[in-house]
Amino acid sequence: MAPIRIGVIGAGFIGRVHLKQFGQIDGVELAGVTDASSALAAAAAREVAADLAALRVFSSADEMIASPDVDAVVVAVPNRFHAPLTVAALAAGKHVLVEKPMALNGASAREIYTAARDSGLTVMVAHQMRWLPPVLEAKRMVDAGELGEVYNAKCGMMRRKNIPGWGSWFTRMGESGGGPMIDIGVHVLDMAMWLLGDPKPVSVFGSTYAKFGPDKRGTGSWGTPDWDGVFDVEDLATAMIKMDDGSTLTLDVSWAVNTLSDNSHFVDLMGTDGGASIRGNRLVFTGQKFDRPFDVEVDAKAIDDARTLLARHFVESIRSGSAPVSDAMSGLVNNTILDSIYESARTGKAIELDWSFL
Ligand SMILES: NC(=O)c1ccc[n+]([C@@H]2O[C@H](COP(=O)([O-])OP(=O)(O)OC[C@H]3O[C@@H](n4cnc5c(N)ncnc54)[C@H](O)[C@@H]3O)[C@@H](O)[C@H]2O)c1
Repeated sequence: MAPIRIGVIGAGFIGRVHLKQFGQIDGVELAGVTDASSALAAAAAREVAADLAALRVFSSADEMIASPDVDAVVVAVPNRFHAPLTVAALAAGKHVLVEKPMALNGASAREIYTAARDSGLTVMVAHQMRWLPPVLEAKRMVDAGELGEVYNAKCGMMRRKNIPGWGSWFTRMGESGGGPMIDIGVHVLDMAMWLLGDPKPVSVFGSTYAKFGPDKRGTGSWGTPDWDGVFDVEDLATAMIKMDDGSTLTLDVSWAVNTLSDNSHFVDLMGTDGGASIRGNRLVFTGQKFDRPFDVEVDAKAIDDARTLLARHFVESIRSGSAPVSDAMSGLVNNTILDSIYESARTGKAIELDWSFL
């Protein structure tokens, strides 16, 4: 079988992770790397080429997308560029693994969704958290009916002092689309919606706050700060999402906050026959027997590293032509919910979602 030739657009933090990851996947050939900074692209190529054959450095994303030597691209650049690059790659016949959030907002997510549907090519959003052992096991429990009817869920990630790259693209609304809600909230939202069986969201109510970022407080070690830059996003967001089946999901995320939290993600699924609570790497089944509630720690075995499973799934989806688990539709739903959270925060009103365009 011919290898799938994968090129990586963006040689920043996550682009380099993808380069190393795909370099280890069977049936994949690294086709090259590119970055707006040619020095960064060359440095990333050298990092990988220490283990593998020398890696081609493309002069631009456009050159990589147009190349007949590339079958698929990974879009690992700031959020603002996800949709234009993904749509261009699809138009050139390339499959795409796009970093989260799939797009800057619902409108650009719709462009990706339409282009993916019309092209028949594989578009997958890089939500590696779906592939964590406790999440895979919780999904199995839900699908097997072990929790009964899951009618309420809570999820979130409360980082206490972790504003990434203050002043850089991370904290500039025009480039990132928002703060922790679109940055890390999208991961837990994606995970929770998948665990709930992808219900149809119909109404969203949310609030956002910026109590640390504007004063350059609450910063962390992630990303490169630009102290002359701009912070015009939130640093905490909270939301409730109602589904058409009556179930509800609440979502709390922060980059900076004063609360008791280990910074890690959590999901609580509440079902009529049992609950499943994810706390980082832990999974606990919660139930009731006779006159008492009880908790059971579930030993969720790791099949492999989550990013490896994600990369393999992308390759398998390309080969089989079947839709990947985190497809463009799931990305569109996530982006639409995120837009509505921000709109609700701005207007103070609950936002009703309209899916009639589908
Ligand atoms: N899945 C995850 O766990 C995870 C983790 C971190 C970041 N991300 C996502 O990955 C993306 C990149 O984040 P990062 O932390 O790597 O950022 P980063 O700032 O470290 O890297 C981004 C790189 O993109 C380059 N770039 C910008 N515009 C470009 C363009 N048009 N063409 C080519 N290169 C361009 C920049 O020069 C930079 O090197 C973001 O969307 C982010 O949300 C995902």
